[in-house]
Amino acid sequence: MTVKSGINPNSWTLDDVPEVRHFTSLEDRLPSRRDRFCWHREGQNFPRTAAELRPLCGDVTLNARNRKALIAQVEHIPNLKSLWDRFEVVAVADPSPSGRRLIEQRHGVSTCASFDELLALRPDAILIAAPDSYHAEFAGRALDAGIHVFCEKPLCFSTADIDGLIAKRDAAKRVLQVGYMKRWDPSYEMLLDEVKGLGGRLRFIAVEVNDPDSWPFSAHQGFQRFSDVPAFLIADNKTRLAAQVARATGVEADDVAIRAYADSLASSMIHDLNVVLGLLAHMGVDDIRPVSGSLFAGGQGTAAVLALNGDQAICQISHVVVPKLADYQERISLFFDDRRFELIFPSPYLNHFPTKLIAYRSEGMHLSTTEHRNGFEEAFVRELIGFWEAIVNGAPVRNTAEHARGDIDLIQRIAKLAFAGRPV
Ligand SMILES: NC(=O)c1ccc[n+]([C@@H]2O[C@H](COP(=O)([O-])OP(=O)(O)OC[C@H]3O[C@@H](n4cnc5c(N)ncnc54)[C@H](O)[C@@H]3O)[C@@H](O)[C@H]2O)c1
Repeated sequence: MTVKSGINPNSWTLDDVPEVRHFTSLEDRLPSRRDRFCWHREGQNFPRTAAELRPLCGDVTLNARNRKALIAQVEHIPNLKSLWDRFEVVAVADPSPSGRRLIEQRHGVSTCASFDELLALRPDAILIAAPDSYHAEFAGRALDAGIHVFCEKPLCFSTADIDGLIAKRDAAKRVLQVGYMKRWDPSYEMLLDEVKGLGGRLRFIAVEVNDPDSWPFSAHQGFQRFSDVPAFLIADNKTRLAAQVARATGVEADDVAIRAYADSLASSMIHDLNVVLGLLAHMGVDDIRPVSGSLFAGGQGTAAVLALNGDQAICQISHVVVPKLADYQERISLFFDDRRFELIFPSPYLNHFPTKLIAYRSEGMHLSTTEHRNGFEEAFVRELIGFWEAIVNGAPVRNTAEHARGDIDLIQRIAKLAFAGRPV
């Protein structure tokens, strides 16, 4: 049997060919020379080696900032399709021609090039997984058109923008759900039960996330990066981002501030803050005050301390990009006066990897440690089922715009502290 294989970047490690680190498949960039990137052998599939590829990369002009659409490829499109008895995917809008081609070929879904075209199809619901700076506009326009909205986090970069969406949601009487999948994780749900009513015993919460981004967890799944989003849209996204970050933080945002606010705080740490706030609400702790905020590693790291119930307890929370370490860990530790818990999430790009919940308790000198595994359900699928239940059966929305508002309010306050403490 002859297997014909086109090469795409998952054939090499990123360190092998740094030239293609952030770019789309070379097949895609170089359709006229496709044969140079294919190697067929009877019965086997051999990609070219990194050494063979390097000279071929040199004469290609690639876009400076690539887009990836990973979360739609890895999660939302396949998950919506797997829920075929609940959702029919009408179309996927993406401005990247190679992205549209991939989505059509890999997922068998119709595509269109813009949000306007998607809106014109009048779907019942829209799932927004566009770059963050478009969330406020797209969600608002969909609600104005009477369409239910599922929007990836962050819903918006500022409370003012979220207030606008809440008003539109209420006027349209449509569902607006935010993509905080961690609140659909079965181990998070178990921890909620464990900590219920324990607010008075809480002493300390520690959150640490080391995040290499998606590359170690998506390469083996064959997902691709696109580099042909039209230049004017890339510029538009950049302008929107700078304006929205400046509005949210009150400072003229430079690159470091934009990275710290838009990537680290509002797009990454917001997941953990959302989990912590969910747990605190269940414990009955509602006095939460940021006392310090910092940014480091050129904005690829951020940290904050929150005072809880006055000086009863604190939460130390941090997020840092570790681009060259193929490991992701997101650990939330809760310390009470007589027990502690650790909730350890895997990379969001790995489906059906269970989140660990470890409980430590003691009776006299006897210490017991229990590791809980709560099945293999995928939180990214459960949140879509929840969205469907809210639309069709009027079930309460689990992740509301009000939750998103509480999260971004804290993020804005942390950013103010972090930016005020930056060396001049
Ligand atoms: N829930 C999670 O764990 C999770 C994980 C990753 C990303 N996200 C969120 O999902 C959304 C999508 O993120 P992503 O990392 O999948 O992809 P991304 O931000 O790189 O791009 C998403 C898609 O938008 C398209 N696009 C539309 N307009 C564009 C423009 N003006 N400029 C550039 N690209 C444009 C791109 O072609 C691309 O296919 C973001 O809001 C992100 O915060 C959530």
